[in-house]
Amino acid sequence: VEVILQPTPALTWVSTGGILDLYIFLGPDPQSVIRQYLQIIGYPMMPPYWSLGFHLCRWGYTTTNTTRKVAQRMHDENFPMDVQWNDLDYANKRRVFTFDPWRFGDLPEMVEEFHKRGMKYILILDPGISSTSTPGTYSPFDDGLKRDVFIKNATGQILIGKVWPGPTAFPDFTNPDTRQWWEDCIRDFHSKVPVDGLWIDMNEPASFVQGSVEGCPDSDLENPPYTPSVVGGRLNSGTLCMSARQKMSFHYNLHNLYGLTEAYATHSALLKIRRKRPFVLSRSSFPGIGRFSGVWTGDVRSDWEQLRFSIPAVLQFSLFGVPLVGADTCGFGGNTTEELCVRWMQLGAFYPFMRNHNDKPNAPQEPYVFGQRAQAAMRSALYLRYSLLPFLYTLFHHAHASAETVARPLFMEFPNDPNSRTIDKQFLWGSSLLISPVLEQGAVELAAYLPPATWYMFTGFTTLWQFLLLPAPLDTINVHVREGHIIPQQEPALTTTASRNNPFFLIVALSAGGWARGDLFWDDGESVDTFEMQNYCYVIFTSQVVSNPLKLNGALDSLVLGGLQVFGVPSPPRYILANGEKVRDFTYRTDTKVSF
Ligand code: NOJ
Repeated sequence: VEVILQPTPALTWVSTGGILDLYIFLGPDPQSVIRQYLQIIGYPMMPPYWSLGFHLCRWGYTTTNTTRKVAQRMHDENFPMDVQWNDLDYANKRRVFTFDPWRFGDLPEMVEEFHKRGMKYILILDPGISSTSTPGTYSPFDDGLKRDVFIKNATGQILIGKVWPGPTAFPDFTNPDTRQWWEDCIRDFHSKVPVDGLWIDMNEPASFVQGSVEGCPDSDLENPPYTPSVVGGRLNSGTLCMSARQKMSFHYNLHNLYGLTEAYATHSALLKIRRKRPFVLSRSSFPGIGRFSGVWTGDVRSDWEQLRFSIPAVLQFSLFGVPLVGADTCGFGGNTTEELCVRWMQLGAFYPFMRNHNDKPNAPQEPYVFGQRAQAAMRSALYLRYSLLPFLYTLFHHAHASAETVARPLFMEFPNDPNSRTIDKQFLWGSSLLISPVLEQGAVELAAYLPPATWYMFTGFTTLWQFLLLPAPLDTINVHVREGHIIPQQEPALTTTASRNNPFFLIVALSAGGWARGDLFWDDGESVDTFEMQNYCYVIFTSQVVSNPLKLNGALDSLVLGGLQVFGVPSPPRYILANGEKVRDFTYRTDTKVSF
């Protein structure tokens, strides 16, 4: 089906057949529309806590030692980072489920080293299974043949396309036998290389030949009466023949579900093997994929336009029930520049999923390759993100439990404000944090919009509802806290393994009426179904009191509230009580009306 938005306003639906189920969600407000939609397609999964940290990847970390050095440099230069990644470089002749014995011979040891340092490790997994290895030397293919897991062509032979390793067969994830085989392949690989998550790429499924190495038959499925405007102009361009056969139906009927079915199989496999919350990142997506996987926005160019477009891309995935989403910071294709990379890391610090990833031929773009000023700006963006992770995690809980959005367009929060409707250069985290990034080259100030409320800067200064110019020198990303909200923070560290033990802090942004509210969801960050099994803590903060935890299972035991700042206190407090005792050590600023 192709859907076209007409200016009238009207929608045009073009379908060449099949059954069309049409749902209309009446809302009435945008948040209710999303919840009603997610009641049909499924609420998003709860991601592991560490996956909200910073991820570093590139195509071209050609050996384990190169990869080790990258992680070491990040650590030495004090850049927070939780997850080191490898692209196809690790694989022997680019074949998945193998690792290059020369360049990546000690991959298992490398992963263990990362784990010892409280870090995680992820690598890429393409669906295409190389079909030309000598029989008996590549079990994913040999075994897959025996178990009949691959997609067939119209005449019943295995369909062969071409991807990175050369000729490849494609697993049919609609077949339960395939899912079992996939799990076995992952289990076997994981027993050698204990990866913490999997990055499923090329799963449109992408192929470098049209349809198959033998082409496709001339049939209605390949040439339907109407072809939407797809890349290449044909339905089978850059992918499989539409007449290819899968267990459930023709590929024609299943094409768009390939990534979803792979994400489901991968998520289930990781769950069974690791018995921890799975992390899967997928390029292809379909409604419902948020239950199993995060999504990144694919091969973005390193330019300012793509930086700008990444905001609507991320916000759309929020609406589609995929809150764990981000674009490759600094851009993937082409060389980045120092300024672009700084701005992109600043914006990326507010993508729900933050990964810096780069294509093979390009100049490096790890934070440490830039000048000191740029490094300092990136470091402070990362520290800001890390300090806000308890808040971000709590938002993910609400996405998982009640279909709320994490990165949120302004119009969802301010549906009655006409100005908010068209804004796609700023966005919110939840209902209370407004992010206004610089998206233009050379800019040191920023035309921003503050929707109807009082907004606090992190310094405590307030601004009211208005369009305004904000100062935005290179070291600054503008973030405002909305009145009436309490944001839980934690002292940052170089990994979430470390930061999760640090003291918490609260920003209390009082409303004119002197109240504020916030909450914290906390669990061990990686066990499965903690919410469903009631294995979590949930604390509500209000401006008058820090409430007793509503739900307590021990996870909060060793945690300390290290301090709090109250924004918008009209006059100096006479005294402050904590647990009934007077706190001696507090300050009040008359200019910003902040009490520490
Ligand atoms: C395409 C992916 O989109 C990109 O992120 C990756 O680096 C390459 N494939 C190589 O695996």
